[in-house]
Amino acid sequence: MTKLQWRCPVCSKALIPYGRSFSCANRHTFDKAKEGYVNLLLAHKKKSADPGDSKAMLLSRRTFLERGFYEPLVQALAKRIQTAFPQPDTPLSILDAGCGEGYYAGKLKEILGAQAQLIGVDISKAAMQLAGKRYPEMQAAVASSYAIPLPDDSVDVVIRVFAPALDDEIARVLKPGGLYLWVYPGAQHLFALRELIYDTPQPHGEHMAVTAGLGLEVQSIDAVSYPLHLPDAEAIAGLLEMTPYYWSASAEKQQHCRALAELELGVDFCVVQAVNRPF
Ligand SMILES: C[S@@+](CC[C@H](N)C(=O)[O-])C[C@H]1O[C@@H](n2cnc3c(N)ncnc32)[C@H](O)[C@@H]1O
Ligand SMILES: [Zn+2]
Repeated sequence: MTKLQWRCPVCSKALIPYGRSFSCANRHTFDKAKEGYVNLLLAHKKKSADPGDSKAMLLSRRTFLERGFYEPLVQALAKRIQTAFPQPDTPLSILDAGCGEGYYAGKLKEILGAQAQLIGVDISKAAMQLAGKRYPEMQAAVASSYAIPLPDDSVDVVIRVFAPALDDEIARVLKPGGLYLWVYPGAQHLFALRELIYDTPQPHGEHMAVTAGLGLEVQSIDAVSYPLHLPDAEAIAGLLEMTPYYWSASAEKQQHCRALAELELGVDFCVVQAVNRPF
């Protein structure tokens, strides 16, 4: 399937592939990394030297996710995409905004097959190194979801799982009629884990789930909730190390968590489904 054209982060003109690099008409040039991704994050736009998730967090997340603990979420996302785009032969461009090490994009490609062209952006270079290596078919760029290096009206679907983004920017890159699936933690998400880490754990606050950005119309806000049994210390460690909670926990609490042989948890995802209206 033809790849989407990246947009130059300096002047917004189209980036044309040329050998192992991309150049725009104004000769701004960006090299492809050996893992296949392109770094389109401009140095002066970085808020830190190495923004986004670290390699250690990404690897823990990969180990955890690949054991299938969040598989019901993948299935829920795939079902929504297939319902919105029921023609199995129509090409579908799907952007994973803040894709991390690429698990959701990789799984969606597996489920949707040849029809799907997956594009991933993440602000973390380590994320794109891991994603590029594991999912060579995915079109990948280091970039911010606040300034997505894609043209206006260019993608059919945007998924966003536990990652920051700007509604107006999502609406800009989505085609009219395009589908936006935004997943964030519901009130009870992993509450048992937070009980282990905090003295007085609070449920996740009510999210501002109204993505009333430019042209986006919310169709539904649903929970994907289920009990989860983590059967061994490795699974518990993986979950701990991929969440921000863990890094704020005391050494004593971390130690306590690591000593657990199994853990019962509640998974509680909130899935917002919105459509980008024709203007
Ligand atoms: C909690 S992780 C979720 C990753 C992936 N969606 C998943 O569920 O496995 C949040 C991700 O957002 C990325 N991120 C943070 N700020 C970002 C930004 N401004 N633009 C794009 N990605 C960002 C981080 O590097 C990290 O990979
Ligand atoms: Zn340019």
